[in-house]
Amino acid sequence: MNEVVKVLTGEHENIKRAIEHTHRLFADILSGNAELNMMLERIDFFRNYADGYHHHKEEEVLFPEMIKRNEMLEYGVIHEMLQNHEDFREMLSELEDAVNDGDAEGAKKKFEVYAEALLEHIAVEDEEVFQIAETIMSEDELLTVLYRFEDCDRELGVDEKKEWEKKIG
Ligand SMILES: [Fe+2]
Ligand SMILES: [Fe+2]
Repeated sequence: MNEVVKVLTGEHENIKRAIEHTHRLFADILSGNAELNMMLERIDFFRNYADGYHHHKEEEVLFPEMIKRNEMLEYGVIHEMLQNHEDFREMLSELEDAVNDGDAEGAKKKFEVYAEALLEHIAVEDEEVFQIAETIMSEDELLTVLYRFEDCDRELGVDEKKEWEKKIG
């Protein structure tokens, strides 16, 4: 597995762990063992880590580089992935609204829809999109992508990224 794919699948693993933890948090909230507003920190995680650190790399670096090498991708699977990212932002806002309204049942349902869609999205990237990237890019091109990923993390904060990973670990 190329380093570029390792970075992205590693972030996917952290996102999947956060999804599992959040399902457990909702179980605690509904049984009265946790406060609904604890969800706000999870929403921050999905916004800052999943969307900020992770989707940012795909949208600003990997996907444009893939489209440069195969224009057809822009209208196919990459279009679908970008649309999903947009939908996820919308879903998180709706989830946040439900939490702020104190609607625990509604928030749980919204989170379940979001989590399922995100897991599906991650599976398509892991099984399809990243393999296409490895096939259409040379080792050198992939190395350039890796350096640009490192720039992305530096811009957003390497220490903050580790903090997020620790929080959901
Ligand atoms: Fe994605
Ligand atoms: Fe992804």
